[in-house]
Amino acid sequence: MDNSGKFYITTPIYYVNARPHIGHAYTTVVCDTIARRQRMMGYDTWFLTGTDEHGQKIERSATAAGCTPKEFADKVSSEFRQLWDRMKLSYNDFIRTTEPRHIKGMQALFKRLQDRGYIYKGSYSGQYCVYDELYVDVTEPGAPCPECGRPTETIREENYFFKLSAMEEPLLRLYTENPDFVRPETRRNEVISFVRGGLRDLSVSRTTFTWGIPVPGDEKHVIYVWLDALANYITALGFGSDDPKDKAKLDRYWPADVHMIGKEIVRFHCVYWPAFLLAADIPLPKSIVAHGWLLFEENKMSKSRGNIVRTETILDTLGADTLRYFLMREIVFGSDGSFSFDALVQRFNSDLANGLGNLSSRTLSMITRYFDGEIPYPSLGARIPADHEIAELANKTISEFHAHFEQFQFSRALETGWGLVAAVNKYIVDNEPWAVAEKDDQDSRARLATILHTSAEALRIVTALVHPVIPESTARIWEQLGLGDIVKLDLRNLAWGQLPLHTKLGKVEAVFPRADKSTVERMQQMEQERSTASTTAIEAESTPPSPTQDTAQKAAVSAAATSPGVGASTITVDDFAKVDLRVGQIKVAEKVKGADKLLRLEVDLGTETRQIVAGIAKAYAPEKLIGRKVVIVANLAPRKLRGLESQGMIVAASIGDDGVPVLAGFLEDVPLGARLK
Ligand code: MSP
Repeated sequence: MDNSGKFYITTPIYYVNARPHIGHAYTTVVCDTIARRQRMMGYDTWFLTGTDEHGQKIERSATAAGCTPKEFADKVSSEFRQLWDRMKLSYNDFIRTTEPRHIKGMQALFKRLQDRGYIYKGSYSGQYCVYDELYVDVTEPGAPCPECGRPTETIREENYFFKLSAMEEPLLRLYTENPDFVRPETRRNEVISFVRGGLRDLSVSRTTFTWGIPVPGDEKHVIYVWLDALANYITALGFGSDDPKDKAKLDRYWPADVHMIGKEIVRFHCVYWPAFLLAADIPLPKSIVAHGWLLFEENKMSKSRGNIVRTETILDTLGADTLRYFLMREIVFGSDGSFSFDALVQRFNSDLANGLGNLSSRTLSMITRYFDGEIPYPSLGARIPADHEIAELANKTISEFHAHFEQFQFSRALETGWGLVAAVNKYIVDNEPWAVAEKDDQDSRARLATILHTSAEALRIVTALVHPVIPESTARIWEQLGLGDIVKLDLRNLAWGQLPLHTKLGKVEAVFPRADKSTVERMQQMEQERSTASTTAIEAESTPPSPTQDTAQKAAVSAAATSPGVGASTITVDDFAKVDLRVGQIKVAEKVKGADKLLRLEVDLGTETRQIVAGIAKAYAPEKLIGRKVVIVANLAPRKLRGLESQGMIVAASIGDDGVPVLAGFLEDVPLGARLK
């Protein structure tokens, strides 16, 4: 960390062609947790996030959605921002690459690189991956991209080039002299071997599309989207601005202390970004920290796989703190980790509701009941070794928690914190304060005071330590402890024995919502409803339409592309025609194990049989459905529910507040596969 007392942390800026999901939330939550803790450790902290809005991928998504790239970007960027606000993420600034401050700063950086002789004009002919926004070393037209496997496109253009080849030696020196520049070690080794393999000059402008920042003085070129995006880390602080306030901000916070990224964008951040900065003679960030992927059922979440989990579903059921706790506790930072609703609910129940929630509610309600809501005096004479053991464990927990946290070992830090929670819960059970309270003598009263004081003090310590991870619930526990605003707490001084005696408790109430078996099903149901309700272009555009895509796929993409959110509230006949509604007959219907609401159906469409997972089990017994003719949306992107692929959607009316499904059907006989228009 910086001895000037400042701390600057950034997330990647997220592409606006995909709506926010829990993968994006993961990075942002990790940064938010670090930023919150740094503030509590006395650092003047600046936390930046934002959206990456230029490039061909976004231009194409906008075209598919029938709106301008700016309209498209406005909509998705604001979704990111709204979600981050709903999650109360404590970012200090949100940068959009379409903002004038960024465009101005980016152009100033380009000019500076040109003036310093690192940018020259040349021409390029070869294969380009639009998805990764990357020139690739394959020769065959349409050959798959070595990074992502998607088909590449042939590009021939006059470009500006950046002299990346000149940076090989300086970069290798940088990695050797600053072992912490790229973290963790595995990523560092990857980067070093990539650079050792040789660097070729990098094309940093495009003429094949226009959605980007014009090259200053040569407006038919737009700046390469990765150079444009990376520059956000300095333009957001005011690089390129003449305003003295911006200059002061840049001086204050740059260089960044941590650029937090996912492992797939290591090369851009650890090779290109320092190369640009070295060439421009701008100080380098202190460290680039790469985390692993959040997997859903062993796969990286992506729209094309249809396995995206939306953050909103979890916020609506178990709340932001539960999601934050799960992400920080369950995923070993740096490695890939799996998300599942079952694991989320399990963590919630064991650690939050039964662990911290239980400790808090029983300690505070006993103080309310037996001591009129005032923290009691822990009589010295009434102490036994078990009380001292808790005090010692608490002090040890403080130092271990800090040490793990500083090393980005969030999961271990939380494990340590919950070791204290478990020990105090056991201490309460072993010491039976409720039984001690039955006795009226003075010694028992003193003993009761000591037990409850010890429990409350341990609760205070664990609450303070984990506040950056679960800010909302810990703020409430803090208030209930009668300690006021937790944000004002200085974490550097945290130690056993600081709980002010006779503090009056606040109103004691449960801090975690209730969860039972139905919570998992409710979340899965919500996911299904959300996914069918939001078949927008943004959802469908994970893979940009490419010349090799077949017509059916294109139709599906553009059908889904008619976003209800972007543009008018009515659709044209052509729009409606894009939805492939067909008559099918249910051949097989059975309950999905462990999901009350779901049925697995096999539906015959005349030419093929589809598996569809439908949330209709509460309204229809499976045996009653066999042979029934139904209407299905046949060109909906497949998605997984409870591990089963659902290849379409069954059409039903939704009745009443509970949304009871009633299947659409026909009075006349209709042949299988008939299209509805
Ligand atoms: N726009 C670029 C980044 C430019 S930064 C100068 C980009 N955007 S992105 O929208 O694709 O976001 C990538 C980042 O989102 C990842 O690096 C990671 O931080 C986060 N994640 C997206 N999906 C994720 C998972 N499934 N798991 C974990 N993180 C994920 O790349």
